[in-house]
Amino acid sequence: MLNDGSNLNDFKELDDFKEAALELINHYINETKEIHSLPINSLNQNQNKPSYLKTSLPKKGLGLSSAVKIFKQKVASQFVQNYHPRFFNWVVGGRTPASILGDFYTSIYDQIVMLCGYGVSVNLENQTIEWLKELFNLPEDKFCGVFTTGATEANLCALATARQWYGEGFGVNISQNGLYEICSPKIIAGLPHSSIDKSLQILGLGRASLIKITHNHTKLDLVSLEKMLQAHKNVIVVANCGEVNTGQSDDLISIGKLCHKYNAWFHVDAAFGLFSRCDESTKSLSEGIEQADSITCDGHKLGNVPYACGFFFLKKTRYKYLTQTFSTIAPYLSEHCDHPMNTRVANSQRLLALPLWFSLLAYGKKGYQNMIRKQCHFSTLLGEWIDKQDNYELLMPVSFNIVLFRHKRVSSVKENQMLIAKICATKIISLSGTVFDQKPALRIAAANWAIDSHDDLPAVCEALLLGAKNFLND
Ligand SMILES: Cc1ncc(COP(=O)(O)O)c(C=O)c1O
Repeated sequence: MLNDGSNLNDFKELDDFKEAALELINHYINETKEIHSLPINSLNQNQNKPSYLKTSLPKKGLGLSSAVKIFKQKVASQFVQNYHPRFFNWVVGGRTPASILGDFYTSIYDQIVMLCGYGVSVNLENQTIEWLKELFNLPEDKFCGVFTTGATEANLCALATARQWYGEGFGVNISQNGLYEICSPKIIAGLPHSSIDKSLQILGLGRASLIKITHNHTKLDLVSLEKMLQAHKNVIVVANCGEVNTGQSDDLISIGKLCHKYNAWFHVDAAFGLFSRCDESTKSLSEGIEQADSITCDGHKLGNVPYACGFFFLKKTRYKYLTQTFSTIAPYLSEHCDHPMNTRVANSQRLLALPLWFSLLAYGKKGYQNMIRKQCHFSTLLGEWIDKQDNYELLMPVSFNIVLFRHKRVSSVKENQMLIAKICATKIISLSGTVFDQKPALRIAAANWAIDSHDDLPAVCEALLLGAKNFLND
Protein backbone atom coordinates (compact mmCIF):
# COMPACT_ATOMS: atom_id res chain seq x y z
CA MET A 1 0.00 0.00 0.00
CA LEU A 2 1.19 3.47 -0.85
CA ASN A 3 1.17 5.31 2.43
CA ASP A 4 4.38 7.21 2.98
CA GLY A 5 5.10 8.53 -0.49
CA SER A 6 8.22 6.38 -0.91
CA ASN A 7 6.70 4.08 -3.51
CA LEU A 8 4.82 6.66 -5.61
CA ASN A 9 6.23 5.14 -8.76
CA ASP A 10 5.22 1.51 -8.34
CA PHE A 11 1.77 2.01 -9.95
CA LYS A 12 0.10 -0.37 -7.48
CA GLU A 13 -2.39 2.26 -6.42
CA LEU A 14 -3.59 2.65 -10.01
CA ASP A 15 -5.85 -0.38 -9.45
CA ASP A 16 -7.43 1.35 -6.47
CA PHE A 17 -7.68 4.49 -8.58
CA LYS A 18 -9.54 2.55 -11.30
CA GLU A 19 -11.98 1.07 -8.81
CA ALA A 20 -12.77 4.45 -7.24
CA ALA A 21 -13.07 6.19 -10.63
CA LEU A 22 -15.47 3.55 -12.00
CA GLU A 23 -17.56 3.71 -8.85
CA LEU A 24 -17.67 7.49 -9.09
CA ILE A 25 -18.83 7.33 -12.70
CA ASN A 26 -21.54 4.82 -11.81
CA HIS A 27 -22.65 7.00 -8.93
CA TYR A 28 -22.88 10.01 -11.27
CA ILE A 29 -24.86 8.09 -13.92
CA ASN A 30 -27.34 6.64 -11.44
CA GLU A 31 -27.80 9.94 -9.67
CA THR A 32 -28.31 11.81 -12.95
CA LYS A 33 -30.93 9.32 -14.18
CA GLU A 34 -32.94 9.73 -10.99
CA ILE A 35 -32.20 13.35 -10.25
CA HIS A 36 -35.78 14.63 -10.55
CA SER A 37 -36.96 12.38 -7.74
CA LEU A 38 -33.96 12.87 -5.45
CA PRO A 39 -34.15 15.14 -2.37
CA ILE A 40 -31.92 18.19 -2.06
CA ASN A 41 -29.79 18.69 1.04
CA SER A 42 -30.53 22.27 1.91
CA LEU A 43 -27.85 24.78 2.73
CA ASN A 44 -27.56 24.95 6.46
CA GLN A 45 -25.52 27.87 7.64
CA ASN A 46 -25.54 26.60 11.22
CA GLN A 47 -24.27 23.18 10.25
CA ASN A 48 -21.22 22.19 12.27
CA LYS A 49 -18.02 21.48 10.44
CA PRO A 50 -17.86 17.66 10.07
CA SER A 51 -15.50 16.39 12.78
CA TYR A 52 -13.27 14.76 10.20
CA LEU A 53 -12.48 18.13 8.68
CA LYS A 54 -10.95 19.20 11.98
CA THR A 55 -8.27 16.50 12.09
CA SER A 56 -4.61 17.35 11.48
CA LEU A 57 -2.50 16.18 8.54
CA PRO A 58 -1.70 12.45 8.80
CA LYS A 59 2.01 11.79 9.35
CA LYS A 60 1.80 8.68 7.30
CA GLY A 61 -0.64 8.55 4.39
CA LEU A 62 -3.68 6.28 4.70
CA GLY A 63 -3.45 5.01 1.14
CA LEU A 64 -5.76 5.82 -1.74
CA SER A 65 -8.62 3.41 -0.90
CA SER A 66 -8.85 4.58 2.71
CA ALA A 67 -8.74 8.19 1.56
CA VAL A 68 -11.61 7.45 -0.86
CA LYS A 69 -13.62 5.78 1.90
CA ILE A 70 -13.19 8.73 4.25
CA PHE A 71 -13.99 11.25 1.54
CA LYS A 72 -17.20 9.43 0.58
CA GLN A 73 -18.40 8.82 4.11
CA LYS A 74 -17.40 12.01 5.85
CA VAL A 75 -17.29 14.67 3.17
CA ALA A 76 -19.20 13.87 -0.03
CA SER A 77 -22.24 12.73 1.96
CA GLN A 78 -22.50 16.31 3.33
CA PHE A 79 -22.19 18.10 0.01
CA VAL A 80 -25.08 20.25 -1.15
CA GLN A 81 -26.56 19.16 -4.48
CA ASN A 82 -26.15 22.53 -6.16
CA TYR A 83 -26.16 20.65 -9.48
CA HIS A 84 -29.77 19.53 -8.86
CA PRO A 85 -32.22 21.05 -11.41
CA ARG A 86 -34.33 22.39 -8.53
CA PHE A 87 -31.44 24.13 -6.80
CA PHE A 88 -32.55 27.70 -7.50
CA ASN A 89 -30.27 29.78 -5.26
CA TRP A 90 -28.43 32.73 -6.83
CA VAL A 91 -27.79 31.67 -10.45
CA VAL A 92 -26.25 28.21 -10.22
CA GLY A 93 -26.02 26.14 -13.37
CA GLY A 94 -25.69 22.39 -13.66
CA ARG A 95 -23.10 20.51 -15.68
CA THR A 96 -23.91 18.69 -18.90
CA PRO A 97 -22.58 15.13 -19.29
CA ALA A 98 -20.23 16.27 -22.08
CA SER A 99 -18.83 19.04 -19.92
CA ILE A 100 -18.09 16.60 -17.10
CA LEU A 101 -16.16 14.45 -19.50
CA GLY A 102 -14.36 17.57 -20.70
CA ASP A 103 -13.50 18.31 -17.08
CA PHE A 104 -12.11 14.78 -16.61
CA TYR A 105 -9.96 15.26 -19.70
CA THR A 106 -8.80 18.61 -18.38
CA SER A 107 -7.47 16.94 -15.24
CA ILE A 108 -5.97 13.90 -16.89
CA TYR A 109 -4.15 15.82 -19.62
CA ASP A 110 -3.38 18.71 -17.24
CA GLN A 111 -2.50 21.21 -19.96
CA ILE A 112 -1.13 24.62 -19.13
CA VAL A 113 -2.33 27.46 -21.34
CA MET A 114 0.93 29.24 -21.98
CA LEU A 115 2.46 27.75 -25.10
CA CYS A 116 1.90 30.71 -27.36
CA GLY A 117 0.89 30.15 -30.96
CA TYR A 118 1.86 26.52 -31.38
CA GLY A 119 0.16 25.10 -28.29
CA VAL A 120 -3.00 23.15 -29.11
CA SER A 121 -4.54 24.25 -25.83
CA VAL A 122 -4.21 27.89 -26.89
CA ASN A 123 -5.81 27.01 -30.24
CA LEU A 124 -8.63 25.21 -28.45
CA GLU A 125 -9.21 28.17 -26.19
CA ASN A 126 -9.31 30.49 -29.20
CA GLN A 127 -11.71 28.20 -31.02
CA THR A 128 -14.02 28.13 -28.00
CA ILE A 129 -14.04 31.93 -27.96
CA GLU A 130 -14.88 31.90 -31.70
CA TRP A 131 -17.72 29.40 -31.12
CA LEU A 132 -19.07 31.50 -28.27
CA LYS A 133 -19.13 34.55 -30.54
CA GLU A 134 -21.16 32.49 -33.02
CA LEU A 135 -23.48 31.21 -30.29
CA PHE A 136 -24.04 34.76 -29.05
CA ASN A 137 -24.15 36.29 -32.48
CA LEU A 138 -21.39 38.79 -31.65
CA PRO A 139 -19.50 40.33 -34.59
CA GLU A 140 -16.58 37.95 -35.12
CA ASP A 141 -14.11 40.55 -36.35
CA LYS A 142 -14.78 42.99 -33.49
CA PHE A 143 -14.21 40.95 -30.32
CA CYS A 144 -11.47 38.85 -28.76
CA GLY A 145 -11.93 36.89 -25.53
CA VAL A 146 -10.15 35.52 -22.48
CA PHE A 147 -11.10 32.71 -20.09
CA THR A 148 -11.34 33.31 -16.34
CA THR A 149 -12.45 31.35 -13.29
CA GLY A 150 -15.85 33.05 -13.29
CA ALA A 151 -17.75 36.28 -13.80
CA THR A 152 -16.18 37.98 -10.79
CA GLU A 153 -12.71 37.54 -12.27
CA ALA A 154 -14.06 38.51 -15.70
CA ASN A 155 -15.48 41.76 -14.27
CA LEU A 156 -12.20 42.38 -12.46
CA CYS A 157 -10.11 41.88 -15.60
CA ALA A 158 -12.42 43.95 -17.81
CA LEU A 159 -12.41 46.80 -15.30
CA ALA A 160 -8.62 46.56 -14.90
CA THR A 161 -8.37 46.97 -18.67
CA ALA A 162 -10.78 49.91 -18.56
CA ARG A 163 -8.66 51.45 -15.79
CA GLN A 164 -5.61 51.33 -18.09
CA TRP A 165 -7.64 53.09 -20.80
CA TYR A 166 -8.80 55.69 -18.27
CA GLY A 167 -5.19 56.43 -17.28
CA GLU A 168 -4.14 56.93 -20.89
CA GLY A 169 -6.80 59.65 -21.22
CA PHE A 170 -4.87 61.61 -18.56
CA GLY A 171 -1.43 60.80 -19.95
CA VAL A 172 -0.67 58.19 -17.26
CA ASN A 173 0.36 54.59 -17.85
CA ILE A 174 -1.24 53.01 -14.77
CA SER A 175 0.39 49.60 -15.15
CA GLN A 176 3.77 51.37 -15.16
CA ASN A 177 3.27 54.22 -12.70
CA GLY A 178 0.31 53.20 -10.58
CA LEU A 179 -2.77 55.19 -9.80
CA TYR A 180 -1.36 57.94 -7.66
CA GLU A 181 -0.82 60.56 -10.36
CA ILE A 182 -4.49 60.83 -11.27
CA CYS A 183 -7.82 61.19 -9.53
CA SER A 184 -10.16 58.24 -9.33
CA PRO A 185 -12.47 57.65 -12.31
CA LYS A 186 -16.23 57.89 -12.13
CA ILE A 187 -17.81 54.48 -12.58
CA ILE A 188 -21.53 54.57 -13.21
CA ALA A 189 -24.02 51.75 -12.93
CA GLY A 190 -27.68 51.07 -12.17
CA LEU A 191 -27.90 47.92 -10.06
CA PRO A 192 -24.43 46.40 -10.34
CA HIS A 193 -23.67 42.92 -9.06
CA SER A 194 -21.57 42.89 -5.87
CA SER A 195 -18.61 41.61 -7.89
CA ILE A 196 -18.33 45.08 -9.46
CA ASP A 197 -17.86 46.67 -6.01
CA LYS A 198 -15.38 43.93 -5.17
CA SER A 199 -13.41 44.53 -8.38
CA LEU A 200 -13.16 48.24 -7.60
CA GLN A 201 -11.92 47.45 -4.10
CA ILE A 202 -9.21 45.20 -5.50
CA LEU A 203 -8.23 47.61 -8.27
CA GLY A 204 -7.53 50.45 -5.86
CA LEU A 205 -10.35 52.53 -7.31
CA GLY A 206 -12.48 52.08 -4.23
CA ARG A 207 -16.15 51.31 -3.87
CA ALA A 208 -16.79 55.04 -3.47
CA SER A 209 -15.92 55.60 -7.13
CA LEU A 210 -19.05 53.64 -8.07
CA ILE A 211 -22.07 55.88 -8.55
CA LYS A 212 -25.35 54.01 -8.68
CA ILE A 213 -28.21 55.75 -10.44
CA THR A 214 -31.37 53.77 -11.00
CA HIS A 215 -34.73 54.43 -12.49
CA ASN A 216 -37.71 52.65 -10.85
CA HIS A 217 -35.33 50.52 -8.74
CA THR A 218 -34.40 48.45 -11.77
CA LYS A 219 -32.44 50.16 -14.52
CA LEU A 220 -29.63 52.59 -15.07
CA ASP A 221 -31.18 56.03 -15.34
CA LEU A 222 -30.35 57.47 -18.74
CA VAL A 223 -31.01 61.13 -17.97
CA SER A 224 -28.67 61.14 -14.95
CA LEU A 225 -26.15 59.09 -16.91
CA GLU A 226 -25.98 61.68 -19.66
CA LYS A 227 -25.46 64.46 -17.11
CA MET A 228 -22.56 62.53 -15.56
CA LEU A 229 -21.05 61.89 -18.97
CA GLN A 230 -21.22 65.61 -19.76
CA ALA A 231 -19.59 66.53 -16.46
CA HIS A 232 -16.72 64.00 -16.35
CA LYS A 233 -14.03 62.80 -18.72
CA ASN A 234 -13.39 59.13 -19.50
CA VAL A 235 -16.22 57.67 -17.47
CA ILE A 236 -16.54 53.88 -17.12
CA VAL A 237 -20.15 52.72 -17.45
CA VAL A 238 -21.20 49.31 -16.13
CA ALA A 239 -24.49 48.04 -17.49
CA ASN A 240 -26.44 44.88 -16.72
CA CYS A 241 -27.58 42.28 -19.15
CA GLY A 242 -29.58 40.08 -16.77
CA GLU A 243 -29.66 41.63 -13.29
CA VAL A 244 -29.31 39.01 -10.60
CA ASN A 245 -32.58 39.81 -8.73
CA THR A 246 -34.89 40.63 -11.58
CA GLY A 247 -33.32 39.13 -14.71
CA GLN A 248 -33.79 42.52 -16.41
CA SER A 249 -31.32 44.37 -18.58
CA ASP A 250 -30.42 48.02 -18.84
CA ASP A 251 -31.23 49.84 -22.06
CA LEU A 252 -28.03 48.71 -23.76
CA ILE A 253 -28.81 50.39 -27.08
CA SER A 254 -29.17 53.86 -25.55
CA ILE A 255 -26.26 53.38 -23.14
CA GLY A 256 -24.03 52.29 -26.01
CA LYS A 257 -24.94 55.41 -27.97
CA LEU A 258 -24.25 57.68 -25.01
CA CYS A 259 -20.91 56.00 -24.30
CA HIS A 260 -19.93 56.45 -27.92
CA LYS A 261 -20.99 60.11 -27.93
CA TYR A 262 -19.09 61.00 -24.75
CA ASN A 263 -16.08 58.70 -25.12
CA ALA A 264 -16.91 56.46 -22.15
CA TRP A 265 -15.89 52.85 -21.63
CA PHE A 266 -18.95 50.61 -21.95
CA HIS A 267 -18.76 47.43 -19.88
CA VAL A 268 -21.67 44.97 -19.69
CA ASP A 269 -22.01 42.39 -16.95
CA ALA A 270 -23.85 39.62 -18.78
CA ALA A 271 -22.83 36.79 -16.45
CA PHE A 272 -25.92 34.82 -17.42
CA GLY A 273 -27.85 37.29 -19.61
CA LEU A 274 -25.58 36.81 -22.62
CA PHE A 275 -27.19 33.41 -23.11
CA SER A 276 -30.41 35.23 -24.03
CA ARG A 277 -28.76 35.71 -27.43
CA CYS A 278 -28.97 32.00 -28.15
CA ASP A 279 -32.64 32.23 -28.96
CA GLU A 280 -34.93 34.54 -30.95
CA SER A 281 -37.50 34.58 -28.16
CA THR A 282 -35.09 36.06 -25.60
CA LYS A 283 -32.53 37.97 -27.61
CA SER A 284 -34.17 41.37 -27.02
CA LEU A 285 -32.70 41.23 -23.47
CA SER A 286 -29.24 41.77 -24.89
CA GLU A 287 -29.93 44.04 -27.84
CA GLY A 288 -27.20 46.66 -28.19
CA ILE A 289 -24.55 44.62 -26.40
CA GLU A 290 -22.45 44.53 -29.58
CA GLN A 291 -21.53 48.15 -28.89
CA ALA A 292 -19.80 47.26 -25.60
CA ASP A 293 -16.06 47.59 -25.06
CA SER A 294 -16.09 44.61 -22.70
CA ILE A 295 -18.63 41.92 -21.83
CA THR A 296 -18.54 39.51 -18.88
CA CYS A 297 -20.07 36.05 -19.06
CA ASP A 298 -20.02 32.79 -17.13
CA GLY A 299 -19.72 29.26 -18.44
CA HIS A 300 -20.65 27.74 -15.10
CA LYS A 301 -24.07 29.39 -15.00
CA LEU A 302 -26.22 28.99 -18.12
CA GLY A 303 -23.31 27.40 -19.98
CA ASN A 304 -23.86 24.42 -17.66
CA VAL A 305 -20.24 23.41 -17.28
CA PRO A 306 -18.53 22.61 -13.96
CA TYR A 307 -16.95 25.37 -11.88
CA ALA A 308 -14.72 27.29 -12.61
CA CYS A 309 -15.44 28.75 -16.01
CA GLY A 310 -15.98 32.36 -16.97
CA PHE A 311 -14.81 34.54 -19.82
CA PHE A 312 -14.95 38.08 -21.08
CA PHE A 313 -15.05 39.56 -24.52
CA LEU A 314 -13.10 42.66 -25.37
CA LYS A 315 -13.33 44.92 -28.42
CA LYS A 316 -10.24 44.23 -30.49
CA THR A 317 -9.61 47.99 -30.64
CA ARG A 318 -9.10 47.86 -26.84
CA TYR A 319 -6.69 44.93 -26.91
CA LYS A 320 -3.57 47.01 -26.21
CA TYR A 321 -5.01 48.02 -22.82
CA LEU A 322 -5.44 44.35 -21.96
CA THR A 323 -1.84 43.44 -22.71
CA GLN A 324 -0.55 46.59 -21.00
CA THR A 325 -2.52 45.59 -17.89
CA PHE A 326 -1.59 41.91 -17.78
CA SER A 327 1.85 41.84 -19.38
CA THR A 328 4.26 39.52 -17.59
CA ILE A 329 7.81 40.80 -17.68
CA ALA A 330 10.57 38.29 -17.00
CA PRO A 331 13.77 37.46 -18.90
CA TYR A 332 12.77 33.83 -19.44
CA LEU A 333 9.36 34.64 -20.90
CA SER A 334 8.18 35.53 -24.36
CA GLU A 335 7.58 39.21 -25.00
CA HIS A 336 5.06 38.39 -27.70
CA CYS A 337 2.04 40.44 -26.73
CA ASP A 338 -0.39 37.68 -27.76
CA HIS A 339 1.17 35.34 -25.26
CA PRO A 340 -1.53 34.02 -22.89
CA MET A 341 0.50 35.21 -19.92
CA ASN A 342 0.03 38.77 -21.19
CA THR A 343 -3.75 38.62 -21.31
CA ARG A 344 -4.83 37.21 -17.92
CA VAL A 345 -4.18 37.13 -14.20
CA ALA A 346 -2.74 33.63 -13.96
CA ASN A 347 0.62 32.81 -15.46
CA SER A 348 -0.07 29.09 -15.17
CA GLN A 349 -3.67 28.54 -16.11
CA ARG A 350 -5.67 25.34 -16.25
CA LEU A 351 -7.30 24.68 -19.62
CA LEU A 352 -10.55 26.24 -18.40
CA ALA A 353 -12.08 26.22 -21.88
CA LEU A 354 -12.08 22.45 -22.41
CA PRO A 355 -15.34 21.51 -20.59
CA LEU A 356 -17.19 24.26 -22.45
CA TRP A 357 -15.54 23.33 -25.76
CA PHE A 358 -16.72 19.77 -25.21
CA SER A 359 -20.25 20.79 -24.36
CA LEU A 360 -20.49 23.16 -27.34
CA LEU A 361 -19.18 20.44 -29.63
CA ALA A 362 -21.54 17.80 -28.26
CA TYR A 363 -24.76 19.86 -28.24
CA GLY A 364 -24.11 22.69 -30.72
CA LYS A 365 -26.12 25.84 -31.15
CA LYS A 366 -29.42 23.94 -31.19
CA GLY A 367 -28.68 22.16 -27.95
CA TYR A 368 -27.93 25.43 -26.18
CA GLN A 369 -31.00 27.06 -27.69
CA ASN A 370 -33.15 24.25 -26.31
CA MET A 371 -31.54 24.51 -22.87
CA ILE A 372 -32.29 28.23 -22.69
CA ARG A 373 -35.85 27.73 -23.95
CA LYS A 374 -36.51 25.08 -21.30
CA GLN A 375 -35.32 27.36 -18.51
CA CYS A 376 -37.34 30.33 -19.73
CA HIS A 377 -40.42 28.20 -20.30
CA PHE A 378 -40.18 26.86 -16.77
CA SER A 379 -39.77 30.37 -15.31
CA THR A 380 -42.72 31.71 -17.31
CA LEU A 381 -45.01 28.89 -16.16
CA LEU A 382 -43.91 29.31 -12.55
CA GLY A 383 -44.56 33.07 -12.79
CA GLU A 384 -48.06 32.39 -14.10
CA TRP A 385 -48.73 30.01 -11.22
CA ILE A 386 -47.44 32.48 -8.59
CA ASP A 387 -49.61 35.19 -10.06
CA LYS A 388 -52.69 33.10 -9.30
CA GLN A 389 -51.81 32.39 -5.64
CA ASP A 390 -53.47 34.09 -2.68
CA ASN A 391 -50.36 34.19 -0.49
CA TYR A 392 -47.62 34.80 -3.03
CA GLU A 393 -47.18 37.72 -5.40
CA LEU A 394 -44.79 38.49 -8.22
CA LEU A 395 -42.63 41.55 -7.61
CA MET A 396 -41.62 41.90 -11.24
CA PRO A 397 -42.83 40.35 -14.47
CA VAL A 398 -40.71 37.25 -15.12
CA SER A 399 -37.68 38.24 -17.15
CA PHE A 400 -35.60 35.58 -18.88
CA ASN A 401 -34.93 32.84 -16.27
CA ILE A 402 -35.61 34.72 -13.01
CA VAL A 403 -38.80 34.70 -10.95
CA LEU A 404 -38.85 37.36 -8.23
CA PHE A 405 -41.74 37.12 -5.78
CA ARG A 406 -42.75 37.40 -2.14
CA HIS A 407 -45.03 35.90 0.43
CA LYS A 408 -47.66 38.47 1.32
CA ARG A 409 -47.55 37.67 5.06
CA VAL A 410 -43.77 38.12 5.34
CA SER A 411 -42.78 41.56 6.56
CA SER A 412 -39.15 41.29 7.68
CA VAL A 413 -35.90 39.75 6.48
CA LYS A 414 -35.97 37.44 9.52
CA GLU A 415 -39.44 36.15 8.65
CA ASN A 416 -38.33 35.71 5.08
CA GLN A 417 -35.42 33.57 6.25
CA MET A 418 -37.81 31.48 8.34
CA LEU A 419 -40.03 30.95 5.32
CA ILE A 420 -37.03 30.00 3.18
CA ALA A 421 -35.94 27.50 5.85
CA LYS A 422 -39.41 25.91 5.79
CA ILE A 423 -39.46 25.69 2.00
CA CYS A 424 -35.96 24.20 1.88
CA ALA A 425 -36.84 21.78 4.68
CA THR A 426 -39.20 20.05 2.24
CA LYS A 427 -35.97 18.97 0.44
CA ILE A 428 -37.88 19.37 -2.81
CA ILE A 429 -36.28 22.65 -3.78
CA SER A 430 -33.59 25.01 -2.60
CA LEU A 431 -33.95 28.75 -3.10
CA SER A 432 -32.53 31.98 -1.73
CA GLY A 433 -33.92 35.28 -0.54
CA THR A 434 -33.18 38.86 -1.39
CA VAL A 435 -34.42 42.34 -0.70
CA PHE A 436 -36.05 44.15 -3.58
CA ASP A 437 -37.48 47.65 -3.42
CA GLN A 438 -37.02 47.41 0.38
CA LYS A 439 -39.21 44.31 0.55
CA PRO A 440 -37.89 40.88 1.64
CA ALA A 441 -38.33 38.66 -1.38
CA LEU A 442 -37.76 35.21 -2.81
CA ARG A 443 -36.09 34.47 -6.07
CA ILE A 444 -35.95 31.40 -8.26
CA ALA A 445 -33.32 31.31 -10.98
CA ALA A 446 -33.72 28.42 -13.43
CA ALA A 447 -30.28 27.66 -14.78
CA ASN A 448 -29.90 23.91 -15.02
CA TRP A 449 -29.88 22.00 -18.33
CA ALA A 450 -31.92 19.19 -16.75
CA ILE A 451 -34.87 21.33 -15.66
CA ASP A 452 -38.11 19.90 -16.92
CA SER A 453 -41.38 21.78 -16.58
CA HIS A 454 -43.36 18.57 -16.60
CA ASP A 455 -41.51 17.00 -13.67
CA ASP A 456 -40.19 20.01 -11.83
CA LEU A 457 -42.99 22.57 -11.94
CA PRO A 458 -45.52 20.56 -9.86
CA ALA A 459 -42.74 19.76 -7.38
CA VAL A 460 -41.78 23.44 -7.01
CA CYS A 461 -45.42 24.48 -6.50
CA GLU A 462 -45.84 21.76 -3.88
CA ALA A 463 -42.72 22.92 -2.01
CA LEU A 464 -43.82 26.57 -2.05
CA LEU A 465 -47.29 25.68 -0.71
CA LEU A 466 -46.00 23.25 1.90
CA GLY A 467 -43.25 25.59 3.08
CA ALA A 468 -45.71 28.49 3.39
CA LYS A 469 -48.19 26.32 5.29
CA ASN A 470 -45.54 25.20 7.79
CA PHE A 471 -44.31 28.79 8.14
CA LEU A 472 -47.80 30.08 8.91
CA ASN A 473 -48.49 27.21 11.32
CA ASP A 474 -45.40 27.93 13.41
C1 LIG B 1 -24.77 39.48 -12.96
C2 LIG B 1 -23.69 38.72 -12.23
N1 LIG B 1 -22.43 39.13 -12.31
C3 LIG B 1 -21.42 38.49 -11.69
C4 LIG B 1 -21.66 37.36 -10.94
C5 LIG B 1 -20.53 36.65 -10.25
O1 LIG B 1 -20.32 35.44 -10.85
P1 LIG B 1 -19.28 34.34 -10.32
O2 LIG B 1 -19.90 33.79 -9.08
O3 LIG B 1 -19.18 33.37 -11.41
O4 LIG B 1 -17.99 35.01 -10.06
C6 LIG B 1 -22.98 36.89 -10.83
C7 LIG B 1 -23.30 35.70 -10.01
O5 LIG B 1 -24.44 35.36 -9.78
C8 LIG B 1 -24.03 37.57 -11.50
O6 LIG B 1 -25.30 37.15 -11.45
